[in-house]
Amino acid sequence: MEKIVVENFSLTYSDGAESLQNINLKINEHTITALIGPAGGGKSTFLRAMNRLNDLADVAALSGHLYINGQDVLDPKTNVIQLRRTVGIVFARPLPLPLTIYENVSFGLQAAGERRKAVLDEAVERALRQAQLWDEVYDRLGDSAFAISGGQQQRLCIARVLALQPEIILLDEPTSALDPISTAKIETSLLELKEKYTIVIAPHNIQQAARIADDVAFFLQGEVVEFAPAEKIFTTPKDRRTLDYVQGRFG
Ligand SMILES: Nc1ncnc2c1ncn2[C@@H]1O[C@H](COP(=O)(O)OP(=O)(O)OP(=O)(O)O)[C@@H](O)[C@H]1O
Ligand SMILES: [Mg+2]
Repeated sequence: MEKIVVENFSLTYSDGAESLQNINLKINEHTITALIGPAGGGKSTFLRAMNRLNDLADVAALSGHLYINGQDVLDPKTNVIQLRRTVGIVFARPLPLPLTIYENVSFGLQAAGERRKAVLDEAVERALRQAQLWDEVYDRLGDSAFAISGGQQQRLCIARVLALQPEIILLDEPTSALDPISTAKIETSLLELKEKYTIVIAPHNIQQAARIADDVAFFLQGEVVEFAPAEKIFTTPKDRRTLDYVQGRFG
């Protein structure tokens, strides 16, 4: 089923640069889509648009459609709180709250009014297991989130998103600050999570896209040059620029 449908989507920042030009994509549920391309291509801008984080940035103009579950999230009537529950986002730098591990994972549920300890306990364990972190922290859930490593903190941030049971998970270079072991755990976690969720990631590098992506969109200077199954992008892309990029000739 098509989960995200992007039609003629353009975005211009108020400094005048047209940062996304006429993007068209269809993303199926239970897939991992990787957004690849050189710096400044628009990957982060596109990820932020999907849960309306651009509302906070200097955006001068938006046009086109960005449907999630058939609803255009650009519609001014969109309930942004609800949207951000459906569409969770994880950034490059782990940003845990200055609270315990347990409180970090249960924060969103508690903010939404959940008080039942058994419900919170279960959600915390499930989310930490899904984020491949449970085995490392189950006996110290009351410790500060700052007492664990950066790689563990990033998995904690993923667990925090998962505890809210979103439908779509966006990740913007989630492993760029991490060691190889945490990176591998996050990749394993994403491959398991796609059974339940729809994942869109700006990967740390092309190799990561090759390891985990079903589909790949190549962003270049605000345009999607090519969008195709990963295997096609990496072996027989139809655009010369895609081939040059995946073969490491620029970017
Ligand atoms: N808040 C902002 N205000 C103005 N321009 C912005 C803003 N954020 C990004 N841009 C511009 O939009 C374009 C796309 O940037 P974006 O960060 O989306 O690219 P990216 O593909 O994520 O790059 P990278 O690989 O470096 O993360 C760039 O030209 C950038 O300078
Ligand atoms: Mg970026």
